Amino acid sequence: MPTVVVVGAQWGDEAKGKVVDCLAQDADMVVRYGGGSNAGHTVRFDGHEFKLHLVPSGIFRPQVTNIIASGVVVDPQVLVEEIRSLQAEGVSVHNLKVSASAHVVMPYHRLLDSLEEKQRGSAQIGTTCRGIGPAYADKAARKGIRMADLRHPERFAAVLRNSVEEKSRLLKLVYDADCPSFDDIWREYEQYAEVLRPLITDTDPLVYRAVKEGQRVVFEGAQGTLLDLDHGTYPYVTSSHPVAGGACVGTGIGPTHIDAVIGVAKAYTTRVGSGAFPTELLNETGSYLRERGREYGTTTGRPRRCGWLDTVVLRYSAQVNGLTAFAMTLLDVLSGLDTVQVCCAYRLPSGEVIEQFPSDSAVLKECEPVYESLPGWKEEIADVRRWDDLPEQAKRYVQRVEELTGVPVAMVSVGPLRSQTFWRHGVSGDAPVRSLKELAEGHALA
Ligand code: IMP
Repeated sequence: MPTVVVVGAQWGDEAKGKVVDCLAQDADMVVRYGGGSNAGHTVRFDGHEFKLHLVPSGIFRPQVTNIIASGVVVDPQVLVEEIRSLQAEGVSVHNLKVSASAHVVMPYHRLLDSLEEKQRGSAQIGTTCRGIGPAYADKAARKGIRMADLRHPERFAAVLRNSVEEKSRLLKLVYDADCPSFDDIWREYEQYAEVLRPLITDTDPLVYRAVKEGQRVVFEGAQGTLLDLDHGTYPYVTSSHPVAGGACVGTGIGPTHIDAVIGVAKAYTTRVGSGAFPTELLNETGSYLRERGREYGTTTGRPRRCGWLDTVVLRYSAQVNGLTAFAMTLLDVLSGLDTVQVCCAYRLPSGEVIEQFPSDSAVLKECEPVYESLPGWKEEIADVRRWDDLPEQAKRYVQRVEELTGVPVAMVSVGPLRSQTFWRHGVSGDAPVRSLKELAEGHALA
């Protein structure tokens, strides 16, 4: 199969886990390339529901090698808990590998994350407080601890001692807070290390070999394009690179090895945490979407902000990720509305209408959405399994998104279950679209 990157096309929580799980059916390897336990991927099948934070969504397919790559920051406490709860449910993790180059989230990272948030006051980012920003900051400052260090107790002790010394001073001087002691962290992390040691390896060559041998590899993104550190709505972003390019940096393969990029987009938009959100609905329709879409965070339980679909965002996402297709999720949530609105441009305070997503968050905050109204549909569609069986208005909605973005919608999801997904083999007769399944099976790309 070609190698496929699965990215969030909006602000995260687009149900990427479900799309990766479906693709994993035909895959040899699933590689998580960035972020950390701030992510929450829900996978439901056979009456089970699994919430994954770090383990790739291919773990439920025994034939798939699952890799947590170098670009991820790993909280060993979360990973060990996740491994144990998977095993308790009878899911084997024999096929899980963790990169020796991945950085480790430490207790002082979580503490710093919370303290920094508190200090920001009304300018809070609304982080998940999982230590993600501080862990990536240490990585960039070249003073992080890596999974490789956990393999060697003496080496780990040395780097940990240095870090605790530095963080103790920082926490005391800036926040008047105490850093957890070396002894406490050491005792706790040695237990995690014992579980994780057999999984830690150099993953870059494994991924490279798989790609070179023509194996079917899915690169699983976390968060979403608009949370990207460089390309998102800075500073209301995460500290990693969820965009498709992050798959190269985070796993050690070159851009020429990526064949397809699937942008996962909800049929509407959500956002967690602070920051501009032009199509946000602070009314009954927003609550309707939240309740029908079960829009509460997998990681933090926070209610998500909800709004209409924004194709300015999706066009931008297509641009920065080089999307070859969209997977549209949660289309069923829109059932029951008289009309559905799609944002196709923004109006600036000057009256000027722009179609390009502004890079400056302060400008985005001022943007008013320009909507197009489309007829809604009353029918529940959770039982629909074929494109042809969708109500005409729902089809029209999806097709309009394709027209406004120039990107085909190759897959549609109408509910949380594996079975509530269908691939589209073509749109509007003469414009055939490569389905995800075709991509997964290795057919040539258009
Ligand atoms: P952090 O990644 O915890 O530092 O949080 C930074 C921003 O990204 C906050 O607005 C979070 O709500 C958001 N964020 C982080 N991870 C996710 C995710 O998996 N889904 C949606 N938003 C996220």
